Amino acid sequence: MAFTAPGLTEDSAATVVKTLQERLSALNDLHLTLKHIHWNVVGTNFIGVHEMIDPQVELVRGYADTLAERIATMGASPQGTAKAIEDNRSWDDYSLGRDSVQAHLGALDLVYVGVIKSHRDAIETTGKIDPVTEDILIGQTAELEKFHWFVRAHLESYTGELSNAGATTEQEAAEKAR
Ligand SMILES: [Fe+2]
Repeated sequence: MAFTAPGLTEDSAATVVKTLQERLSALNDLHLTLKHIHWNVVGTNFIGVHEMIDPQVELVRGYADTLAERIATMGASPQGTAKAIEDNRSWDDYSLGRDSVQAHLGALDLVYVGVIKSHRDAIETTGKIDPVTEDILIGQTAELEKFHWFVRAHLESYTGELSNAGATTEQEAAEKAR
């Protein structure tokens, strides 16, 4: 990098950029996955969930934009292609096609668990070296967690149990939630 944010060492900037790039690919994957669900969800409560997803797509697209522009601000080049998503990700493609509201939300719960955990890890990593990036990630995590609650509210019983509790894969979560 020929330049970075004033006051950051080159090593710190490289760590921040690497962390941001991974989160950028995760958010790019997430807004594509959300649209896939928006298009494939069927059955009872279709319209509520179909329409619940679009504002979240816009939010997550905006968050990806923020992280990409932060990478550019740090003097690096944000990678926003499908290949970058594929190269950066340590998780599999979303695995459900046309399916019920409950099945998709059961699986989406696990998607959000992964994204939020990794955002929190990124907060931990960047907090020590760049509180400005940390602050961006903290704000994003709060809103991602709020939408995660919207998802879980559809899976929750009046006693507070989740219908997909204990599932470790999207398919298992979908099966339990169906
Ligand atoms: Fe649409």
